Amino acid sequence: MQLSNFFEKCWSRYVKLTPDAPKIHKLLEDRGERVINDHVAFRTFNLPGISRLELGSVFEQIGYKKVPEDLDFPEKKLKANYYLHPDLTQPKVFISELLVEKFPKDLQSWIHSIVEGSRQLSKPPTLNTFLEPSWDPIRLEDYQTFYPMSEYAAWTAAFGIQLNHFTVSFNSLKTFQDLQALNSFLKTNGLVLNSAGGEIKGTPEELLEQSSTEARKIPWTFSGGASDSIMGCYYEFARRYLIPGTQNFFNGFIPKSANKIFESTYEKQKK
Ligand code: NI
Repeated sequence: MQLSNFFEKCWSRYVKLTPDAPKIHKLLEDRGERVINDHVAFRTFNLPGISRLELGSVFEQIGYKKVPEDLDFPEKKLKANYYLHPDLTQPKVFISELLVEKFPKDLQSWIHSIVEGSRQLSKPPTLNTFLEPSWDPIRLEDYQTFYPMSEYAAWTAAFGIQLNHFTVSFNSLKTFQDLQALNSFLKTNGLVLNSAGGEIKGTPEELLEQSSTEARKIPWTFSGGASDSIMGCYYEFARRYLIPGTQNFFNGFIPKSANKIFESTYEKQKK
C-alpha cells in the first residue's frame, strides 16, 4: 500500500468521527491554502500484539525511523513514541499507549477481555490494523462504567486502533500571520477550540506551538445495536520553529503541551 493511499484511507475513517475536519479543510482550501499534515496520532494499549512499539514497527518497515526518546505522561498513565519519515513532507507518526496495569482491576479485566477476544488481532500488526475494526463492538454499559476512570481507555475501546487526529502543519499555510490568527479564523467560522491550559500550547522558545478543536459527540453503535452519542476525534494545528543556529525545524513533541492536547476528546474539559 502506498503511504499516501494509507493516509487517505485513514482520513476516510477519521472524518466519520470528526465532522469538523472536512469543514476546516474546505475553509482553508477556499482561502487558497494547501493543507499538509504535520503528524498523525494513534492510541493503543500496552498489551502484547498492539503495544506502541509493535504498532510503530509497522511504520519502521515502510521507511519511518523511530526517534529514541520515550515520552512519558505520568498524570495520564501514558507513554508515547514518534517516528519520522526521511521525506519530511510525510506526516510524523505519534503513537501513545495506555499503561493498563496502572488502573483498577475491573478496568484492566475489561481491556484484556476486549483485546484478547479479538480475532482480528491474532496476526502481527500491518497497515491494515489501523484501517479495520480492531474488535467487536463493546457494550454501551461498559463504556459508561469505565469512561469516568479513563477517557482514553473508553475512547480506544469504542473505536479500536485507529487514527485519533490529523494535524494541519501551520508552516505550510501562507495566509496566517501566526497560530493565533488561524485560531481566530476558525472560531469566526463557528469552530470550538480546546482551551484546556490555554488555546495555544507551547511557545516559540519551546519551538512548537499547538492548538486543536474540541472533539464533538458523534452517534456510535455498540454491541446489540445499542447506540449513543460519544466523543469522537479532533483536528490539531502545529507551528514548528527553527532550531536556533540551524536551518532545521524542531521535529519533536513537548509532553507538557501534548498532555493538554490529549484532553481534546474529554467530555468535560478542565479549564
Ligand atoms: Ni498531536
